[in-house]
Amino acid sequence: MTIRAVAKGLLTFLPGTHRVLPVGRTGGTNSARYCYGVWLKHLTLLWQNNLRSIPDTLAELGPGDSLGVGLAAMLSGVNHYYALDVVRYSNPDKNHRVLDELIELFGSRSKLLPTGGWPDFYRYLGTDLFPSHILTGDLLQASLARERIQHIRNAIKDSGQHTGNITIRYIVPWSDASPIAADMVDVIISQSVMEHVSNIDAAYRCLYSWLKPGGMMSHQIDFKSHGLSKKWNGFRAYSELLWKIIAGKRTYLLNRQPVSVHIALMEKNGFDIVYHLKKSREGGIQRRALSPTWREMPEDDLMCSSTFIIAQKH
Ligand SMILES: C[S@@+](CC[C@H](N)C(=O)[O-])C[C@H]1O[C@@H](n2cnc3c(N)ncnc32)[C@H](O)[C@@H]1O
Repeated sequence: MTIRAVAKGLLTFLPGTHRVLPVGRTGGTNSARYCYGVWLKHLTLLWQNNLRSIPDTLAELGPGDSLGVGLAAMLSGVNHYYALDVVRYSNPDKNHRVLDELIELFGSRSKLLPTGGWPDFYRYLGTDLFPSHILTGDLLQASLARERIQHIRNAIKDSGQHTGNITIRYIVPWSDASPIAADMVDVIISQSVMEHVSNIDAAYRCLYSWLKPGGMMSHQIDFKSHGLSKKWNGFRAYSELLWKIIAGKRTYLLNRQPVSVHIALMEKNGFDIVYHLKKSREGGIQRRALSPTWREMPEDDLMCSSTFIIAQKH
């Protein structure tokens, strides 16, 4: 157990702490290059799995520090972008800065440098290390047109307004399907988010309702402890009571659901799994150290540290 994780959880029980504690940062999407890499990874893997055109409408769960992943998608031709989060980390100033940096990256078709990240999608790229088979010269010429970029800038300023066939809606907090009409969205993505969502059954139900029939979703999910224990899966040693204390009254922490539960809930809510990669990791806690909640969990779940799943609405 880490004392720090418990202390942080306990602190949240003090009245008013959520008002005085800073909102903080989530990590990645402050960096335009990170957003560029995340979007192009999801796009490349979706394309490998039969996505055949740039989505007109994209939704993203948990964009974090900036809307940069969605902005990268818009610079690739997406026209309507819904970003749903439970904490308002992003703001227009950050989004304008990230947009400017992304325009440079797309304008120069900057190479995606393999850095040992997972999953390895670089093998689907040509020698230019850019998905030119998807984002052709003609496509980028249209998507990066000056007038279109001005509409994207206007949409960052006026979230929810429709400007020249471009919309950005940043919905915070969201809790049910109501913010987006049924059968509206072509593609949904999330990066390091579904491990945090407290009710994944309800979330997958909403995602199913928003997608058009045949629409696809792509999620990378990280099952590691996020610094809440010394070993990468050590949070599975914690009793339910200890976990409640660590979670405290934070808006979100980790749902601790293993990969097989995500797959089962996607299928229960009507999705077909079209692509599924799992990364296993050694060096975690032994089965005998697991709390009673997890003691019987399948070996595959216990060893899985990350997954990448693409699923399609029937
Ligand atoms: C680890 S951060 C990842 C942020 C970003 N996707 C990235 O790759 O850097 C997790 C994000 O998930 C968001 N989140 C947590 N619960 C959520 C929920 N129920 N719906 C949408 N987003 C959620 C958090 O607010 C945060 O923005």
